[in-house]
Parts: sequence; C-alpha cells; structure tokens
Amino acid sequence: MEQNRGLNGSKALITGASRGLGASLAVALAQAGASVALCARNGEQLSGVAASITDNGGKVFHRPVDVTDRQQILDFVEAAAAELGPADILVNNAGLGWYKPLLEYSYEEMDRVIDVNLRAAMVFSRAVLPHMVAAGRGKILNVASDLSRRVIPNMAPYVAAKHGIAGFSGSLLREVKDQGVQVLTLMPGIMDTWFGGPPGERDDTWAMNPDHVAELAVFMLTQPNHMMTDEVTVHPMYQEL
Ligand SMILES: NC(=O)c1ccc[n+]([C@@H]2O[C@H](COP(=O)([O-])OP(=O)(O)OC[C@H]3O[C@@H](n4cnc5c(N)ncnc54)[C@H](OP(=O)(O)O)[C@@H]3O)[C@@H](O)[C@H]2O)c1
Repeated sequence: MEQNRGLNGSKALITGASRGLGASLAVALAQAGASVALCARNGEQLSGVAASITDNGGKVFHRPVDVTDRQQILDFVEAAAAELGPADILVNNAGLGWYKPLLEYSYEEMDRVIDVNLRAAMVFSRAVLPHMVAAGRGKILNVASDLSRRVIPNMAPYVAAKHGIAGFSGSLLREVKDQGVQVLTLMPGIMDTWFGGPPGERDDTWAMNPDHVAELAVFMLTQPNHMMTDEVTVHPMYQEL
C-alpha cells in the first residue's frame, strides 16, 4: 500500500464510517498509516469499508454502533482499545439532519439530530480523553458544518446541533491544549454524500467530493505537534455563503 507515513502508528476512531465522508476518512487515515476503528449502524456497509482497507494492507477494527446509545459508545471505545491500543485520534463524524420546517419534525427526530450530531461527540470525547491527557498528546477532530457559523431556515435542529458542536469543540480545545491535546473543527459546505439523499443526485460539478474533504482532514491531523489547524472551513466555489 502506498503510504504517506504522516499517521504511521496512530490509532484512530472514526464515527459514521459506513458511507459518505466517514468512509472517505477511514480510507484516507488508513492510507496515511493509522490503524482505524470504525463504527456506524450499518454493519454490512462498515464491513465493505473495512475490507477495502484490509485489502490494501491496513489494520481495522469495526463494529455496528448506534451512537445515540451511550453504553454502545463506551463498549466500542473499550473494545477498539483492546484490539488496536488506545485511540490517539478521534474523528466525530456521524451526523444527520433533515431539511424541513420545525412543525414537520417529530419530537423523536429533534432528539435524534441532537443526539447524533452533538451528544455522541461529547460522549466519545469524554471516553477517549483520559488516555490522551495521560499520554500528553492526542487529536480530536469534530466534523461540524458551515452551518456552525451561519443560519438558514428549515434546518433549525441541525443548525442548533452544529453551532453546539463548534462551541463544544472550541471550549474543550482551550481546556486541554496545555495538556497536549488538540481539538480541531472542520466545517464543510455541501458535499456529494448520502446526506439528504443518494450521492450523485446533487450536481457533482459543484458539490464537494468527500474524498477531497477527507484529504483536508488528514492535513489537519498531520501538522507538527506545536501547530494546529484548529478551525477549517471549506466550501464548493459556487455554494451560497
Ligand atoms: N453532506 C454535506 O453536505 C455536509 C455538509 C456539512 C457537514 N456535513 C457533516 O458531515 C458528516 C458526515 O455526513 P455525510 O455528509 O457523510 O452524510 P452521510 O453520507 O449520510 O453519512 C452519515 C454517517 O453518519 C452515520 N450515522 C447516522 N446516524 C447514526 C447513528 N445513530 N449511529 C451511528 N452512526 C450514525 C451513518 O451511518 P449509519 O446510517 O450506518 O448509522 C453514516 O455513516 C456529518 O456530521 C454531517 O453533518 C455534511
């Protein structure tokens, strides 16, 4: 496998790795040399992503996890540490949202948007931090959104969750950076993933390819330890800002 050794020896947990940006991140981090622990609900899709990595010589642990279930998260973090060693990278990528007026949301859907996009990232971070702080190094990359910094109508729970994850990320960074832990925030605009419908339905001459955004994540994670790309925003050229 042709490897950039930038993450050689690292152990990375990636959430929402069954498809879309998470699958691209899994492959990109493995190509950069990391062992990767992957989770999402769809075990079949996860196995497919894992196979594409092991077929190229990478090391993978994967397990179906619903990130709205705290115990499943804690069990996954423990099992991944037992299999690969404790994580020194966590990528909180799992996310979902619907584009519709608030009055068309069920209460369950509102809860789910907050639980997947925000609460799960806090639980994962809380679970991996003891090792990172003890080791004096570690990187948490939170996949937020350009909607962490601006607002649009008809996505109110999602916009709230994405503003929340950016706030969590920035606050936690200031809490743990002097202990050697980086907390980085990636804020993409529109990508051609399964978010809101099958890929390819958007005009791919302007929606971003998730493989390209994953390369940016690898760049953020491979800076020298005394440097950090703490916030990165990336947009398709033709997206309204
Ligand atoms: N696409 C965009 O235009 C865009 C723009 C800005 C930010 N983002 C953010 O980018 C991240 C990745 O999204 P994407 O665009 O790649 O969308 P996607 O193709 O729909 O992928 C979302 C991932 O999240 C996982 N997920 C959803 N609910 C989950 C749950 N309860 N438990 C575990 N995993 C769960 C899905 O896996 P399972 O269904 O198998 O569980 C899937 O792997 C999200 O945080 C999203 O908010 C996307």
